[in-house]
Amino acid sequence: MTAEPTTKPAPTLARRKQLEMYRRALATLPGGTNSNFRAWGDDTIYIDRGKGGTIWDLDGNEFIDMRMGYGPVILGHADDRVDDYVNERMRRGVSFSLTSEDEVKAMELLKQLNPWVDMARMTVSGTEATMHAMRLARAFTGKTKIVKFEGQYHGVHDYALISVAPNNMADLGDEDNPVGLIWGRGIPEIIAKTIVPARYNNLAQLRRLFERDQDIAAVIVEPVLGNAAGILPAPGFHKAMRALTEEFGILLIFDEVKTGFRFAKGGAAEYFGITPDIGTYAKAMGNGYPVAAFGGRQAIMDMLPSKVSHGGTYAGNRVAAAAATKTLEILRDTTALADIHAAGKRLQAGIAGVVESKGLPYHFTGHYPMFSVMFTDKVATEYRDWAATDHELYDAVAVGMHARGAMPEPDSREPWFICEAHATGDTIDRIISIFTDSLNAALELRAHGGLGAGAGQADH
Ligand SMILES: Cc1ncc(COP(=O)(O)O)c(C=O)c1O
Repeated sequence: MTAEPTTKPAPTLARRKQLEMYRRALATLPGGTNSNFRAWGDDTIYIDRGKGGTIWDLDGNEFIDMRMGYGPVILGHADDRVDDYVNERMRRGVSFSLTSEDEVKAMELLKQLNPWVDMARMTVSGTEATMHAMRLARAFTGKTKIVKFEGQYHGVHDYALISVAPNNMADLGDEDNPVGLIWGRGIPEIIAKTIVPARYNNLAQLRRLFERDQDIAAVIVEPVLGNAAGILPAPGFHKAMRALTEEFGILLIFDEVKTGFRFAKGGAAEYFGITPDIGTYAKAMGNGYPVAAFGGRQAIMDMLPSKVSHGGTYAGNRVAAAAATKTLEILRDTTALADIHAAGKRLQAGIAGVVESKGLPYHFTGHYPMFSVMFTDKVATEYRDWAATDHELYDAVAVGMHARGAMPEPDSREPWFICEAHATGDTIDRIISIFTDSLNAALELRAHGGLGAGAGQADH
């Protein structure tokens, strides 16, 4: 006979106002939101405000935010330093489709922090940045195809939505010959065919692809699988891939939308010691304001403005440029990033202690400022491995944390994000305590048959 559960039950969160808003929004916004990734049915969250590392929903529930808007909010919500600067600058007008000094400053800072970048241009979203990076690579090489890795997300343009996040790994096809899986309707086959799926951390397969196909312009890679918990490269993977792309005259695009200004001041390129050909940036670059950019080697960027199309009414708008300038200055001049890394390290140590005390198999993915925990014996090296993790346990823990006042993404594919504000006060200790209670509750649930037995196929 098993004992009755002993963990304090999670409080039930107030939901009335959010449910009302959901029903109202459903009449106007498909799914009640402006993004498929936020459409959680009756559980859709409607937000009131955020400050530092804390957010409040419409019903007044308070959470330590661990999603940080899918990564951009690197300093904290409503950061006075950034907001005051943006407010001051925007009084001069925000949109001219002419160029202001703010834009020049922002891109000078990007270059300063990523010294391998010779030139850069601003866009409004990461989606645009990766789209333009792919176009530049095609223009520069005169070739058509782009290799992308399974489980990597590069935004919502047609060239990016191939083999991104299926739940059923069998859909990805034969491991030696992965299929390009189109995500959703409306993407022409003819476009999808120009994107060649590959398996992360698999150099032998990449070499075979390069040998077989002479029409590959570039490889685009999230340096870690930032949209699959931050699965890490095997030691030497990036260096070997850099050498391989050079051997075949193929460009290397580092999609640093999540890792940029977060893994290190110079992003994952600095962290892993790699010099790509093109880099794409967004998220942490503007502390939550819609800011993005692409940049790279002089010879490639020299295709602009005369040979390759790029533009955008809002590209380099005042708000974006000011937000990037102030955020990048703070990241350059203060200990913010070091503090974020130290806080993430402390959080990992706390989580490790709790999980090890339970004797659970686990490993961390990602790096201190952006990481996740996978419950599994086998260290994940590619997207397909995620399916074999105990994400049922992860999900139960994440939902439990939410109920107890900390909000990681409920999907185990999204890493936890640390911001500067988390590094202050007792936030990290509170997250560890909330994680501990949630893990205990999930394990008790499992002991009582309320949760599946362990690792298995995804069902999100
Ligand atoms: C690695 C990566 N690239 C590109 C994008 C697209 O950026 P955006 O949502 O700003 O269009 C994302 C968004 O999450 C991302 O994680």
